[in-house]
Amino acid sequence: MIKKEVSSAFNKQIQHELYSAYLYLSMAAWMHSKGLDGMAQWLRVQTMEEMAHAMKFFDHIIERDATVELLEIEKPPTTWESPLEAFKAALGHEQFITGKINDLVTLSNKESDYASNSMLQWFIDEQVEEESTASKNVQMLEMVGDSGNGLMMVDRDLGARAFKMPSSKDEGGE
Ligand code: FEO
Repeated sequence: MIKKEVSSAFNKQIQHELYSAYLYLSMAAWMHSKGLDGMAQWLRVQTMEEMAHAMKFFDHIIERDATVELLEIEKPPTTWESPLEAFKAALGHEQFITGKINDLVTLSNKESDYASNSMLQWFIDEQVEEESTASKNVQMLEMVGDSGNGLMMVDRDLGARAFKMPSSKDEGGE
């Protein structure tokens, strides 16, 4: 059985992960509206990854014989000044999520909840990857600046991303 404080914090994390999915789906919609279908594809895959993250917490709560309570999801922004600004916002959001995962690790240690702590190790590794890929996208877009050709190349590159279901510690997302 999981302690109430931990299950409440995990329910809150489901909300954060679902908001992440919502945010990236909103960014994908905006990219489509700008004709940047490759960047939209990258963000659509990211949306699915965030759903999978939410489900990891969902399943953990169920497996530990506690109750999932879905919380309200805030409306995300719908426009950004540029693709660079959108990806900068994505990086900032991932840094925020890393902070939340770190807080959960601290809580699981405080509550001597070793099962939760073990599950959270996957997220520690995942967040390193999440921040790294978001940061690379920002770097690429900073490099191309206002170049239309450069933007089209980045769009083509990001459009190659495909979704892989993260199913275990060894099979993280991208
Ligand atoms: Fe679920 Fe992108 O962190």
